Amino acid sequence: MLSLLPDNLNSQVCLDLACGSGRYMRLMQSRQAQQVFGVDYSADMLAQASNSPFSINNLKLVRSTFLALPFAATTFDFITCGLAVGHEKNLDRTLAEIARVLRPGGAVIYSDFHPFATLSGWQRSFKTGSGHTVTLEHYLHLYSDHQRACQAAGLTIEAVREPVAGEYAPPGSQQVPAVLVIQAVKTKH
Ligand SMILES: C[S@@+](CC[C@H](N)C(=O)[O-])C[C@H]1O[C@@H](n2cnc3c(N)ncnc32)[C@H](O)[C@@H]1O
Repeated sequence: MLSLLPDNLNSQVCLDLACGSGRYMRLMQSRQAQQVFGVDYSADMLAQASNSPFSINNLKLVRSTFLALPFAATTFDFITCGLAVGHEKNLDRTLAEIARVLRPGGAVIYSDFHPFATLSGWQRSFKTGSGHTVTLEHYLHLYSDHQRACQAAGLTIEAVREPVAGEYAPPGSQQVPAVLVIQAVKTKH
């Protein structure tokens, strides 16, 4: 995501979908975005984002699912969505909604748990404060699914990154791509 994020977002109205604790919002703000919106359906994650030590004069947090965004069509110049589309089964609907709120010529950069990682049996899990392991549901989306969903939404894929997990991977699978990152531009209404 970082390797594709523009250095300068001057005057752009930006949206971070599934913003979580807001790390991409902070980056967009530091790259001179005119306004940065963050959307997440988790009130707890939005609370984390609003507690972060960044100035909030041009940041706005909105609680919503990314499947039905409370924004007018063509509102945004630039959108990020990190590691979230795999939480939803319907990739076509997710990308159609992203494309709806993006202006023609605007760009989206989004990432997903890589299908190779899913097919290698990796799981999306975390440990709670009490040491409990929680495994999240994750839907497999192949690259062809992304390609089809982007095309149907009027998004043209311009760049793809597939970083490997390296030292974070389970033993023996350091070379398995961990994340699929896609940069696409809205080319059709
Ligand atoms: C793995 S976290 C990634 C957070 C952030 N994008 C980042 O990279 O730091 C996934 C986030 O997606 C949010 N999420 C999952 N499905 C969503 C949906 N349908 N609508 C809005 N947010 C969603 C979760 O609440 C969570 O904050």
